[in-house]
Amino acid sequence: MRQLKQGDYAWKDGRLPVYVYHYTEELMRVSQEAYMEFFTENALGRKAFPSVATLETEVIEMGIGLLGGSSRAGGTFTSGGTESIFLAIKTARDWARREKGIDRPKIVMPVSGHATAEKAADYLGMEVVRTPLRSDFRADVGLLEAAIDERTCMVYASAPGYPHGVFDPIEEIGALAKKRGLWLHVDACVGGFLAPFARELGYPIPPFDLSVPGVCSLSADIHKYGFAAKGASLVLFADRDYQKYQRFEFSNWPRGTYVTDTFQGSRAAGPIASAWAVMNTLGHAGYREIARVIMDTRERFIAGVEQINGLRVLRPSDLCILMYDSVDPDVDIYAVADRMAEKGWFVGKSITPKAVHIALTPVIAPALDAYFADVTACVKHVRSSR
Ligand SMILES: Cc1ncc(COP(=O)(O)O)c(C=O)c1O
Repeated sequence: MRQLKQGDYAWKDGRLPVYVYHYTEELMRVSQEAYMEFFTENALGRKAFPSVATLETEVIEMGIGLLGGSSRAGGTFTSGGTESIFLAIKTARDWARREKGIDRPKIVMPVSGHATAEKAADYLGMEVVRTPLRSDFRADVGLLEAAIDERTCMVYASAPGYPHGVFDPIEEIGALAKKRGLWLHVDACVGGFLAPFARELGYPIPPFDLSVPGVCSLSADIHKYGFAAKGASLVLFADRDYQKYQRFEFSNWPRGTYVTDTFQGSRAAGPIASAWAVMNTLGHAGYREIARVIMDTRERFIAGVEQINGLRVLRPSDLCILMYDSVDPDVDIYAVADRMAEKGWFVGKSITPKAVHIALTPVIAPALDAYFADVTACVKHVRSSR
């Protein structure tokens, strides 16, 4: 297995700006030890494992506290952004069916909404209407409103969206949702555990959490910028009363009543333990320090790329996701990306706009000088070979 891994991208060397969120070796050990301590337990069995139920409750409470929830808020620990979003959409669907009498509810979202929302809608038999963005890549609220019809139950917005790294105008969208009686879900899978700390450092992060009027649910991934083991996310609700529409209950079989709040039945307890341990180890100060490292890396990244003749970093970007493209007709940015891949860098390609896409994490900081040197060489090579 170790031999097989040698063919993977060297994430510890900062060559993989996606999929992996690593801070320090020490934090990884804490996460691994906690995970292994709960390797065998099953989070489905809340009565059998009150320990797991306690950890889960505390992690949800920490999330609610961080993300603007009131004393009425509730939430569920899930396996990832996909499951959190699935559960938010399922809850909104059943809420609309029951409370608004809409049989086949629709979702309205800007085109930047994550593909996994589309997947959830597909699984749940719902329709999605996607609207164009403003020129700054944010949701155009007027176009969202124009797309609403009598079957619409949900508006979906991101904080920030994965394609462009910008926050949709959540306050404005919240006001729209309230006015039209719609459910607003905020996908803060990327920003949930980073944006509050960047804001504390003075970065201009717009309001996006459960405290914004009109926001009904929010997803925030602990396995991304929360730095826990994979399989850790939260779906939070502004009012835990909504969770009756999230719940699945069934009694008509020989084994009695079966009730779950998650998509999964049996659930690994390891990610819950990892999340609890990592959150308590880092604490508020630890997460703020991570945010400082990431935001410093971002400034260095922007300055470094813009020093390379022919390249431009696209603005705006509110947090940790950046894009850069070519302003030189002799330099095709995808050719630069392909050349970088040959040099062992995993390079994301954005389609609209045509650009390189990167999500910054702390392991990228020490690799930045090598990255700039290689991008410079790749741009030169592409320009000379056209
Ligand atoms: C904004 C956003 N939402 C949702 C997801 C899906 O999360 P996951 O891959 O944990 O299921 C991602 C993943 O990158 C994301 O960036």
